Amino acid sequence: MADLAGWRVLVTAGGTREPIDPVRYIGNRSSGKMGNAIAEAAADRGAAVTLITTVTPPDFEGSVIEVETADQMAEAVWSMNDQDVVVMAAAVADFRPAAVHEAKLSRRDGPPVIELEPTPDILAGVVERATGATIVGFAAETGSLDRAVAKALDKGVDVLVANDVLAEGSGFGTTTNAVTVILADGSSQPWPLMSKREVADRLLDLLLAMRSGSD
Ligand code: C5P
Repeated sequence: MADLAGWRVLVTAGGTREPIDPVRYIGNRSSGKMGNAIAEAAADRGAAVTLITTVTPPDFEGSVIEVETADQMAEAVWSMNDQDVVVMAAAVADFRPAAVHEAKLSRRDGPPVIELEPTPDILAGVVERATGATIVGFAAETGSLDRAVAKALDKGVDVLVANDVLAEGSGFGTTTNAVTVILADGSSQPWPLMSKREVADRLLDLLLAMRSGSD
């Protein structure tokens, strides 16, 4: 099936790592599995895929840009303004250490005070650029989906895929996911628990319908 032939699809995956010193970082639990599954599924369906990732990419037919920090991810994502679809599945740190210590912090110096500063909002930058791409955001939530619906409306994305990372079979590191898909008008559809690859294919089906104006 090559129903996405001619599409350029950009996918981000993994969790960013924000350095504290040369050996330590602030990170998160994202495994990159959801983003990897989307990149693989889109490539299998004929799209030209670029995967911007902090983790080991899958063996798939596409380009890979390896990054580590939110800044590096932002630069890579914002340099690609000719995409048909942008899927931001990465868990991007919201804050990073304001200063990176040049030398490894030592226990002997006692607990450090680490001042944080905000990272760039990559997704907001993509929306601002208004390149005509269909934009998909992800939201890892812990509990009520009300916040995710508010976020979908607030962020200006076309689709927000929300998942409760505390629900069984869902979230970080699992091979399955139970997501709720929220559209730009605030309407939401809960999808049943399925493999991340099935979520990926169903999401691509939805994007196909949206981009051909039949949704
Ligand atoms: O607000 P929240 O972090 O839950 O939003 C998640 C979405 O925003 C994800 O698609 C994530 O990739 C994106 N994001 C971003 N830049 C940030 C933080 C999150 O693009 N600094």
